[in-house]
Amino acid sequence: MAIETKPQPRYGLDPYMDWATNEGIPIAEAISLDLFAVPLGDWARYGARGAICHYAGRGDYCNQMVLELGPGKSTLPQQHLFEQVIFVLEGRGSTQLEFADGRKRSFEWGPRSFFAIPLNAKYRHFNGSGSQRALMVMTTNLPQIINIFHNEQFVFNTKFSFEDRVGKEEYYAGEGDLYMIRQGNNFWETNFVPDMGAIPLTSYDDRGPGSSNIKFVLADGIMYAHMSEVAPATYKKGHRHRAGVNVMTLSGGGYSLLWYEGDTDFTRVDWKYGTVFPPLENQFHQHFVTSNEPSRYLATSVGSFRYPLTLSNKINVMGDGSGKRQGSSLSVKLGGSQIEYEDQDPRIHEIWLEEMRKTGAKPGFSAPGVPC
Ligand SMILES: [Fe+2]
Repeated sequence: MAIETKPQPRYGLDPYMDWATNEGIPIAEAISLDLFAVPLGDWARYGARGAICHYAGRGDYCNQMVLELGPGKSTLPQQHLFEQVIFVLEGRGSTQLEFADGRKRSFEWGPRSFFAIPLNAKYRHFNGSGSQRALMVMTTNLPQIINIFHNEQFVFNTKFSFEDRVGKEEYYAGEGDLYMIRQGNNFWETNFVPDMGAIPLTSYDDRGPGSSNIKFVLADGIMYAHMSEVAPATYKKGHRHRAGVNVMTLSGGGYSLLWYEGDTDFTRVDWKYGTVFPPLENQFHQHFVTSNEPSRYLATSVGSFRYPLTLSNKINVMGDGSGKRQGSSLSVKLGGSQIEYEDQDPRIHEIWLEEMRKTGAKPGFSAPGVPC
């Protein structure tokens, strides 16, 4: 009697991780990464060099990938069904987009430029320098998309044109529409920001004296982005939220503390330009500036201000209907997720004062949250 052989049972699969491994480029794994120091490898897909970044707090939906264009180099044409927002770490060049009807858009970028590739648009990046490399970091929802469809051909070889994602011509020229909603939720709709270090921010002192921010809706997409600034020689209030919010420092010096309720110690991340760390799921975190200049950071994730995707994220955007502040700036004592200065662990201020003594910067707080 013949013994029937069954195929190996297939379960617990992770098509995204299979894809990442098969790309053949380095995968960096850590709580935080310095994007200027991530080892890169030849990336056949792009005809450039690159790496994949997997942070401990990356969550389920997004990743980051670093792309390096050598002097005078360009990428191979790309088209795919995942979204991405791109930050230029260094170098100058341009990106050319091509839509199904033959329309083209191109724009020139430099250090600290930030832009989105509209869903499934064809694109190429060009390094405009013959002597300097260009280095950029993409935040993408590729893990989510690959795991849903688990078919690489479909994700990278579908010709459907999302006309509604193209946006206004001026959105590619460094212009946009500014919508003033309320503190913390004011946003720009655009596709390209020439210099994230220079864009004006709006006050968000619910998060700490001198704090400011602006949100972005890019290419009518589901990728989230906001830029925040912490005042010189001060620190923000601690808070917590979903995983997968990639915090990247643009300017200033300092560190962040991360912890869960009941932890005896903090996890500490020191940062400078190009350091990225997403806090873990609902892990408290707090940002401390120890220099005499303001510190800007860019946060990128999946689940945008326009399309929050999840119910908890929607509540964070819209509030819970009670008219109270949104959860990320509402005290934990009132059902939110923020720790007010008067409720924080006393060690937090002491650690910061000790760090301020080391840098020699004059503290901007006479007591936690009290400006000098
Ligand atoms: Fe946060």
